Amino acid sequence: MDKDRLKPEDFHIPSLGEATIPSPLGLSTVMGDDIANYVTDDESVLFHTDRDLLLQQIREGRPVLAFEKAGPRKSIYFDGSKTRAAVVTCGGLCPGINNVIRSLVMELTYRYHVQTIYGIKYGYRGFIPDYGYETLLLEPGDVNDIHEKGGSILASSRGPQEIGAIVDCLNRMNVSLLFVIGGDGTLAGALKIHEEIQRRELKIAVIGIPKTIDNDIPFVDKTFGLETAFSIAGEAIRCAHTEAVGAPFGVGLVKVMGRMSGFIAANAALALNEVNFVLIPEVEFALKGERGLFSLVEQRLRKRGHAVIIVAEGAGQEHLNTAGETDSSGNPVPADIGIFLKSELKRYFKTSTDIYVNIKYIDPSYLVRSVAANAHDAIYCMQLAQNAVHAGMAGKTGLLVGNWNGRMTHVPLALATSGRKILSPEDPLWLSVLEATGQPLDMGGG
Ligand code: F6P
Repeated sequence: MDKDRLKPEDFHIPSLGEATIPSPLGLSTVMGDDIANYVTDDESVLFHTDRDLLLQQIREGRPVLAFEKAGPRKSIYFDGSKTRAAVVTCGGLCPGINNVIRSLVMELTYRYHVQTIYGIKYGYRGFIPDYGYETLLLEPGDVNDIHEKGGSILASSRGPQEIGAIVDCLNRMNVSLLFVIGGDGTLAGALKIHEEIQRRELKIAVIGIPKTIDNDIPFVDKTFGLETAFSIAGEAIRCAHTEAVGAPFGVGLVKVMGRMSGFIAANAALALNEVNFVLIPEVEFALKGERGLFSLVEQRLRKRGHAVIIVAEGAGQEHLNTAGETDSSGNPVPADIGIFLKSELKRYFKTSTDIYVNIKYIDPSYLVRSVAANAHDAIYCMQLAQNAVHAGMAGKTGLLVGNWNGRMTHVPLALATSGRKILSPEDPLWLSVLEATGQPLDMGGG
């Protein structure tokens, strides 16, 4: 979505109806009385935070864009004791899924007195009778310690399912609150479910929670799982560095996930600060020629004796023959850039230089996403879940709980699925990478 064309309506959060039930949370409505507060629907979080841009918008009489602020509402739509909720986890695994499930169950049960919470197994498939998957009943005792484990206690699956059949199932189960934990494809599915619910004029809230180690969901500063993933990737970099300095002309090459976005690679490189080249899908690079990767690695080896390269799985695809394959979510399956670079670097040094290169290749792959969440992700997962419950109980729907400039927000699903977030070469994060690595601005890419 073109950010310059956004209108206030694009930030509007749908609602199931008037919220008339007093919240059981017993919070305050008075600022300054030292008691935690409810959030009103008028409170918002600015979309543009650049002062000059904001002033210009006001001068031009253009509306100031803002997200609805997340948080507990004084009046809610659902009566917890008579409400059924369901939780589903879709797409690839990600650190923190179990933390989110646990916090949803705790918040629904203890704060809003919801007594029936279903755990739908294997993603959207779990709604479809033909698969015959059991449905779990989630109570606090069932989820007590699940945040200690990676993965999802509900398991997951990729790919869409028939939307009408999903809504039929929600209806049959008398579910009023659906929490969908997933990435872009999953959230696109959640939007369709929400639209079908609206079409049938049902009173079911659909609330998304942004899960993906790739951090590629737009209008959200950060998805959960990213931090854990790049911390684990950092361990692989540490080993790659140790290997690289442990041999003459050693090169440590690490491939990490990141099909279309280089956030894991960039953040892991910054966290470790021992990386010399970061290759991401968003920035093309040449292999040969003066500014190409091979010559740069050669210069680095001649100068410093070792080099560390981190490559995101979706980087450099222009150098490979991709089979045009897609996975069941419809995502392109990248060709293996890690193995390719390993053999091409070897070939280059053997045929074009006098250097006997020592390449150690590490692919931490699923290791970075099948682990339990680290402390920061664990906190974030809990906050996402708590706010998802507040939103759903207040009768809000068709939204993703997000985070923008340090505040928790409601993002319309339509907005959150309107594109893909990538690491722009103009983002200060990328500049940090260039400064930390010394990698040239231009590596001869197209
Ligand atoms: O979407 C997240 C992600 O981790 C991507 O970075 C990666 O390409 C993909 O999932 C792999 O997932 P799977 O092998 O489970 O399809």
